[in-house]
Amino acid sequence: MAHELLKGKKGIIFGALDEKSIAWKTALECHAAGAQLVLTNAPVALRMGEINKLAEQVGAPVIGADVVNMDDLKKLFEGAMEHFGGKIDFILHSIGMSLNVRKGRHYTEMDYGFNQKTLDISAMSLHRVLKTAWEMDALNEWGSVVALTYIAAQRVFPDYNEMADAKALLESVTRSFGYHYGVRNKVRVNSISQSPTRTTAGSGVKGFDGFISYAEKMSPLGNASADDCARYCVTMFSDLTRMVTMQNLFHDGGFSFTGVTQAVIEQMEKQ
Ligand SMILES: NC(=O)c1ccc[n+]([C@@H]2O[C@H](COP(=O)([O-])OP(=O)(O)OC[C@H]3O[C@@H](n4cnc5c(N)ncnc54)[C@H](O)[C@@H]3O)[C@@H](O)[C@H]2O)c1
Repeated sequence: MAHELLKGKKGIIFGALDEKSIAWKTALECHAAGAQLVLTNAPVALRMGEINKLAEQVGAPVIGADVVNMDDLKKLFEGAMEHFGGKIDFILHSIGMSLNVRKGRHYTEMDYGFNQKTLDISAMSLHRVLKTAWEMDALNEWGSVVALTYIAAQRVFPDYNEMADAKALLESVTRSFGYHYGVRNKVRVNSISQSPTRTTAGSGVKGFDGFISYAEKMSPLGNASADDCARYCVTMFSDLTRMVTMQNLFHDGGFSFTGVTQAVIEQMEKQ
């Protein structure tokens, strides 16, 4: 898109696994909007090698970091600031992983060891990233941090399993750290609650096909795509949204505030 909303801004993008990833699309949009980037993902994801294609497209270095390893995070921020020759303006946290889902455990049969890892990787990782940036004073004033979340934090979607709890915690960290970072450095922290989207993480949810077409029918505008989400992230990183912080922002074509739609009524009447 021909605009320069992020001209002169520098950002770190977590979580681009392959070209379906929301983080991948966001990196492309940020680059098109004039930003300079550093890409990062877990070492195991980097071994797939896909991210190198993106790195070439957006002219960004890739610095590996397991988001639950504080040494990795410190090295990532040091490397990014060295690359940029200064502080950072924005961060995309686009990370999710559920061990209980992966191991096929029902919510009622949760393994608590797996659960702790899920909460750490999918939610407390935002705290870890923010704490690292906070201690290193790595973010510029009016910097913007966005984490991706899902409406299962507010309403029950049974097959979303323990990730619902992880997202509720993620949104809470967004508010709590957002407060402190706002007061100290005018840094803003928000979450974007995205429609179901066909990605590697998304497709891990049981019954995903039914789930995504239900959401499509229940959203006046239809489901928001990964590309739409990427563009929304650009606005959140830009100076146009400077006074928005500590919010959970629904980006779902209206799903979150819809009780029922004509399309769903017609579907029910057919049965
Ligand atoms: N796809 C959807 O339906 C949907 C809907 C709403 C919100 N989200 C959220 O969007 C975000 C991005 O997911 P996506 O759908 O693009 O899927 P994705 O699978 O492409 O991205 C998930 C990323 O998390 C990374 N990750 C996992 N463990 C990590 C670790 N220990 N350290 C660093 N990175 C790690 C993975 O390598 C991967 O790049 C997630 O937070 C997800 O919950 C997705």
